[in-house]
Amino acid sequence: MKIFVCGFGTVGQGFAEVLHDRGAMLRDMFEEEAAIVGAMDSRSYAYDPSGLDPMALVSRKKESGKVGGSGYSDSAEVLSSCDYDVLVEVSPTDVKTGGVGLKNIRCALGYGKDVITVNKGPLALRYRELVDLADEKGCIMRFEGSVGGAMPIINLCTEDLVGERITSIRGIFNGTCNYILSKMDKGQPFDQALKEAQQLGYAETDPTNDIEGYDSACKVAILANAVFGRDVTFNDVKITGITSITDEAVAMASSRNMVIRLIGEVTDTKLEVGPRLIPKGHPLSISGTLNTAQILTDLAGPVTVSGRGAGRTETASAILSDLMAIMDKRCRSRWAGSSSTIPR
Ligand SMILES: NC(=O)c1ccc[n+]([C@@H]2O[C@H](COP(=O)([O-])OP(=O)(O)OC[C@H]3O[C@@H](n4cnc5c(N)ncnc54)[C@H](OP(=O)(O)O)[C@@H]3O)[C@@H](O)[C@H]2O)c1
Repeated sequence: MKIFVCGFGTVGQGFAEVLHDRGAMLRDMFEEEAAIVGAMDSRSYAYDPSGLDPMALVSRKKESGKVGGSGYSDSAEVLSSCDYDVLVEVSPTDVKTGGVGLKNIRCALGYGKDVITVNKGPLALRYRELVDLADEKGCIMRFEGSVGGAMPIINLCTEDLVGERITSIRGIFNGTCNYILSKMDKGQPFDQALKEAQQLGYAETDPTNDIEGYDSACKVAILANAVFGRDVTFNDVKITGITSITDEAVAMASSRNMVIRLIGEVTDTKLEVGPRLIPKGHPLSISGTLNTAQILTDLAGPVTVSGRGAGRTETASAILSDLMAIMDKRCRSRWAGSSSTIPR
């Protein structure tokens, strides 16, 4: 399995480290090597069809700021000239246009390559187009880490809960907002909590995408498309952020044994992100940077998951799980018709 990693920042490097760590396990399970043959950042790329050392890529990126020795002017040109089986697309999210990630995913699928991405922009804007292109080309596109990072939710809903009728998903999909609201529960003013989140690296220097609810809205749109089979974009989500939540509102909620949380909600007809009153002790009242979601199903009842919504290794773990699903499928087709059993 030849892998091209597009974007070699926090998540790209985390994935390289995880692949280095789990390489032997993948070889044992699938009788196939999973090798990074290409990696690209904003200025450079490295490519070797016989495989690159993932840890050497990480070291070079750390030491020189570049992942490779070759420059490029167009990422799609690089991707169309290299030989690989799966694109891991982890370039920056652009919720206005889909950015370079959208271009890269279109390019890879167009050439019949499988795609794994955690890049929300392309999925929140062009989900249906990309899924249709993947179907037309007979490719797999997986994106578990795009919602909730390490928290399993997309594949949980579409695979493990496949026989259920899912009536709604409500969740906390932005750890930065949840951190700020948890601090406000303890009496800290909004501005101070935001500053602290920035100092700790939870919030960007420009926190707009988080605190205005845009990041959560992307995730709500992705869930609506992937789990509810809807055809929506980020622009269809009714969004209210957390900037207008006052200290008084938080104190009032607390006096009624409630907390205020930024909740994303998806049903067959609803598509919303906004501050909601949640009873203390309810699964959605969690504090800190965790993400959590409650899935309402007809047979199993409520299913609740939570986990780390971001982080180098945590997000890479979701990419690993998608990679293993693709390797498993390839392994099964290789063994189809054979009298031997699948290794494992
Ligand atoms: N961080 C998380 O925990 C997390 C969790 C879930 C989802 N995500 C998503 O994962 C993606 C990556 O996040 P990150 O935290 O790893 O971001 P990051 O640290 O900023 O890394 C982004 C990488 O993309 C590269 N890049 C920028 N423009 C590019 C271009 N035109 N072509 C190719 N590569 C380009 C950057 O190059 P340079 O290194 O040269 O700047 C950098 O290596 C984003 O879409 C994000 O929303 C992240």
